[in-house]
Amino acid sequence: MELLRLSLFAIFLGLTTRSFAAPSPSQTLSAASPSFTYNSTTFLLNGEPYQIIGGQMDPQRIPPAYWRDRLSKARAMGLNTIFSYVYWNLLEPVQGTWTGDEEANNIASYFQIAQEEGLNVVLRPGPYICGEREWGGFPAWLAEVPGMLVRSNNVPFLSAAKSYIEHLASDISDLQITRGGPILMIQVENEYGSFGAEHNYTSALRDILRANFETVLYTNDGGVDWTLEGGQVHTVLAEIDGDPTSGFNSRGLYITDPTELGPLLDGEYYTWAPDQWGSNNPHNTTVGNPDDVEQFVKDINYVLGNSSASISLYMFHGGTNFGFGNGALWQNRTTVFTTSYDYGAPLDESGRTTDLYFTLRSAFQKYVQNGSIPDVPANLPRTSIPEFTLQPSTSLFDILGNKSTSKFPLTMEALGQAYGFTLYEHTSNTSINGNVQPGDRARDRVLVYVNSIRQGIIDSQYQHPLNVSVALKPGDKLQLLVENLGRVDYYSRGNPYRNYLQDPYKGILGNVTLGDKVIEHWDMYPLPLEDLGGVDTLPGKNSSTVKSGIPPIFYHGSFWIDAAAPSNNTALLDTFLAIPNGLKGNVWVNNFNLGRYWYVGPQQSLYLPGTVVRSGEWNKVVVLELEPGVRDGQMVAEGLAEREWANNPDFDCEHCI
Ligand SMILES: *[C@@H]1O[C@H](CO)[C@@H](O)[C@H](O)[C@H]1NC(C)=O
Ligand SMILES: *[C@@H]1O[C@H](CO)[C@@H](O)[C@H](O)[C@H]1NC(C)=O
Ligand SMILES: *[C@@H]1O[C@H](CO)[C@@H](O)[C@H](O)[C@H]1NC(C)=O
Ligand SMILES: *[C@@H]1O[C@H](CO)[C@@H](O)[C@H](O)[C@H]1NC(C)=O
Ligand SMILES: *[C@@H]1O[C@H](CO)[C@@H](O)[C@H](O)[C@H]1NC(C)=O
Ligand SMILES: *[C@@H]1O[C@H](CO)[C@@H](O)[C@H](O)[C@H]1NC(C)=O
Ligand SMILES: *[C@@H]1O[C@H](CO)[C@@H](O)[C@H](O)[C@H]1NC(C)=O
Ligand SMILES: *[C@@H]1O[C@H](CO)[C@@H](O)[C@H](O)[C@H]1NC(C)=O
Ligand SMILES: *[C@@H]1O[C@H](CO)[C@@H](O)[C@H](O)[C@H]1NC(C)=O
Ligand SMILES: *[C@@H]1O[C@H](CO)[C@@H](O)[C@H](O)[C@H]1NC(C)=O
Ligand SMILES: *[C@@H]1O[C@H](CO)[C@@H](O)[C@H](O)[C@H]1NC(C)=O
Ligand SMILES: *[C@@H]1O[C@H](CO)[C@@H](O)[C@H](O)[C@H]1NC(C)=O
Repeated sequence: MELLRLSLFAIFLGLTTRSFAAPSPSQTLSAASPSFTYNSTTFLLNGEPYQIIGGQMDPQRIPPAYWRDRLSKARAMGLNTIFSYVYWNLLEPVQGTWTGDEEANNIASYFQIAQEEGLNVVLRPGPYICGEREWGGFPAWLAEVPGMLVRSNNVPFLSAAKSYIEHLASDISDLQITRGGPILMIQVENEYGSFGAEHNYTSALRDILRANFETVLYTNDGGVDWTLEGGQVHTVLAEIDGDPTSGFNSRGLYITDPTELGPLLDGEYYTWAPDQWGSNNPHNTTVGNPDDVEQFVKDINYVLGNSSASISLYMFHGGTNFGFGNGALWQNRTTVFTTSYDYGAPLDESGRTTDLYFTLRSAFQKYVQNGSIPDVPANLPRTSIPEFTLQPSTSLFDILGNKSTSKFPLTMEALGQAYGFTLYEHTSNTSINGNVQPGDRARDRVLVYVNSIRQGIIDSQYQHPLNVSVALKPGDKLQLLVENLGRVDYYSRGNPYRNYLQDPYKGILGNVTLGDKVIEHWDMYPLPLEDLGGVDTLPGKNSSTVKSGIPPIFYHGSFWIDAAAPSNNTALLDTFLAIPNGLKGNVWVNNFNLGRYWYVGPQQSLYLPGTVVRSGEWNKVVVLELEPGVRDGQMVAEGLAEREWANNPDFDCEHCI
């Protein structure tokens, strides 16, 4: 009964809206209103049975100029539907400032291209999306809203979430299937049952979505009793992720509200896993693991062999956590996702097809009408860039911007900063010594200097970070350079760790102590590094002054790409940029922040999309090296056509655990 009511509601809204919207030519040709509904066993697209053969791909991890390429390859693998998270923090970086019309955040444009490429779309707007993204997609400014409790029936949270959903809807609601667009369904929250069981929160979110969209809503939870019980929302189709056999079985057992039942969907079938930084963390890949790939094929046959079941691969294409976009986990230590979100997915980080792609394509072939899968475009070669020198230029400590002062340290968020580094400085007027305690704990990696000479690193990636002890004399300057490694993106109420989703603060939270003394009076400098300006044009350093222990410095260099390179096919300029003698830092090309590098691996090079590269001119590379002079050899960069993954020891904490 409830289902019938909902579909009528959807059709009614669709018709009403159409009478206001200017119909596109294709809409005027079709007599019946387009629709996506379901009965107890089957999704119905325009009244016909529809089995979702889906895959996940998030536009905000892909250069926009490549959206069409990636989407056409999804279609050519046999997918008929693309699942996409959207990242609130990029869409509303400052409260009330909406960036949906910027090319890289133009979700409407991405969905239109999907439709042009013959794909439908499932929208996963969060507002919490997990996704191994910074704070699960939440904008950092939420942390400064008084009374905020995220993912909860909390007035400040729901009010901010409502405003976000309304903005998003104003960009994309005309792309719903009911109005001739590709959007079939919208997810409510994201695996909420793993986190909580506040049904009044998820039902409030459901109502916000229903007030802004008219298509089918669904939830997606881990396929066990407590996650399904916590995540289900009355009148919303309940679906599962993970292992489809046990998940479908659990859905049958634990979802009993008839308004939540319908066809089955494994909304996240994992095609592998993301990588985290660490000497002992190899790259996750199915290469060399034929048994795992065989299991994928079995599971696809298990799901699609049943006409009432559907699937979406997580990920079809992972892409890149450009800039400071990655998330992290708390497991009594910070474990940090790499810049690469290659994921071992069918389409690799650079958008090239892999062996896994072709294996899965063959598996899907059985379930799609023959002839309806387009041919797969050949992989274009990537370019290589011969090694070029990086010259040391200015020190990070020489370009400090706005100073705030306060008796006790303020967090990064309280300073109005979202990402990057914050420098905390204190000038001593007495002799004092002891171990440095940078607030309640390192948030997340603290480089400790006295008078600009490094004393040690307190790194919360270890459960037992080094104790860094300093001795200050009157006039000495204690400097704590704190790196936000990426806010925690996931917490499960089933795990034994602290819930840092509700405590996202970076920089210094609490007091800095030396031994048992609280240190008062701080100068604080936010270093979001959003725009490097002319850092590469500042006077250079004499290389002989670069030695282990000095503060971070910027290096710069440039490479030339011949104008003869086909400028309309930038994929030929794609490469993997490596800083072979670098230790840890960030890389910008033509002022675009490619992301973090770290010698420990497994990632050893950064995907440099050809869209960022300019042919027929010098391309400027800026590297912020956090620990200059620690590794031997001159700083150089090079572009590799083929990447390698490798692990190395962490020189800063070699025996840390
Ligand atoms: C659901 O729709 C399918 C496809 O039209 C149909 O075969 C099936 O009988 C329907 N199920 C119910 C319970 O109406
Ligand atoms: C929402 O639900 C939670 C847990 O189920 C409960 O503690 C809280 O009081 C409820 N809030 C409201 C406003 O109903
Ligand atoms: C992926 O890598 C992480 C970190 O190295 C590891 O803990 C995890 O088990 C790997 N996942 C898979 C599916 O191999
Ligand atoms: C398909 O899945 C449904 C729901 O789990 C189940 O009842 C049915 O038996 C399955 N059909 C086949 C052919 O396995
Ligand atoms: C994590 O740390 C807390 C607090 O120190 C401790 O109570 C807990 O047992 C630890 N959990 C694990 C899994 O190590
Ligand atoms: C399509 O062709 C493949 C290979 O020839 C065959 O196995 C499959 O059953 C066909 N699929 C359909 C839906 O006809
Ligand atoms: C300093 O603060 C002002 C005012 O808030 C701001 O406009 C400016 O961009 C800041 N400068 C830097 C280098 O952050
Ligand atoms: C650091 O000092 C604390 C307190 O003295 C001690 O418990 C801890 O074991 C030390 N950590 C390391 C890595 O030495
Ligand atoms: C910091 O130290 C001051 C002075 O000892 C104390 O009043 C204050 O409560 C401390 N703040 C925190 C967050 O512990
Ligand atoms: C030293 O600094 C403290 C605060 O950090 C201040 O209370 C004290 O007056 C200062 N002493 C001198 C001699 O300046
Ligand atoms: C760099 O420093 C070295 C040693 O102090 C000196 O010999 C050399 O002339 C300097 N080079 C430049 C370009 O200033
Ligand atoms: C690139 O330019 C060439 C030559 O003008 C043209 O043949 C080709 O279709 C263009 N490719 C794309 C992807 O636009």
